[in-house]
Formats: sequence, C-alpha cells, structure tokens
Amino acid sequence: MRTLLATVLMMIASLTFMVAQPAWADADLVTGAKVFSANCASCHIGGKNVINAPKTLKKEALAKYAMNSSEAIVTQVTNGKGAMPKFKGRLTDDQIQSVAAYSGSRMNEVHQILTAQAL
Ligand code: HEC
Repeated sequence: MRTLLATVLMMIASLTFMVAQPAWADADLVTGAKVFSANCASCHIGGKNVINAPKTLKKEALAKYAMNSSEAIVTQVTNGKGAMPKFKGRLTDDQIQSVAAYSGSRMNEVHQILTAQAL
C-alpha cells in the first residue's frame, strides 16, 4: 500500500511538472501526504471519517459542508471542530497548509487514480 501510494505520488509529481504553473509545488504534496498519514489517517483512512461518517474528505462531502477550500480546511485543522482535535501547536503552519491542500482537491485526485487502478 505504501509503495502504491508512493508510486501514485510520483506520478502526480511528474504530471505536475508537465503542467505549466502548477497551483502548488510537488514538495507540498509529499509533505501533505506524510503529515496526513501520521496525524489524520487514524480518523480519515482512505479519505473517510471513522467518527462522523458523513463528513468524509470526498469532494461531494467537502462541498456539502462548505469545507471545499484550503482556507476552511486550514481553519478546521488549526482549531479543531466537534470530535476532531486541533493541531495548533502540534503541526507547523507550513505542515497545516500542506495537509490542507492534500486533504482537499489533491486527496480527490489521489483517490481517483487509486480507484482507476483498482478497477
Ligand atoms: C480523532 C479523529 C480525527 C483526527 C485525528 C482528524 N480528524 Fe478530521 N474530522 C474528524 C471529525 C469527527 C470531523 C467532523 C467534524 C465536525 O464537523 O463535527 C472531521 C472533519 C474533517 C474535515 C471536514 C470534512 C467534511 O466533509 O466536512 C476535514 C477536511 C478534516 N477533518 C481534515 C483532517 C486533517 C487534515 C487531519 C489531520 C491533520 C484530521 N482531519 C484529523 C475527526 C478527526
């Protein structure tokens, strides 16, 4: 699984290189993925939510709960919400920015690729 994820990340990293002006740097994706697996995967494994089931990291859920922007995710990760702990003091601002980007649009991208490969 780790190897598969690393492969997918490499693919995305090389794809990003081919596109002019990527929205954010490859390093962010790698940092985001690392921060995610160490701090978020326990509750959000596979982009799901093991505590509050409807509040997944899928595009549709993020849109439904107005969490489909990096700013909204940064705020929630920093301050926590409901049963989700705050990460202020545990993660640096840079780490929070990276994981927010990863948990938002990039999380969906990673999932689409994984799903496509699984089919
Ligand atoms: C202890 C379990 C737990 C951990 C660890 C955790 N979360 Fe959450 N997360 C939740 C819960 C519960 C919610 C729903 C909060 C609410 O709205 O009441 C949530 C909601 C979210 C949402 C909004 C989802 C939606 O559809 O509205 C995002 C984005 C998110 N978490 C990202 C993260 C990131 C990034 C991390 C790691 C830095 C993280 N979470 C760590 C439990 C957790």
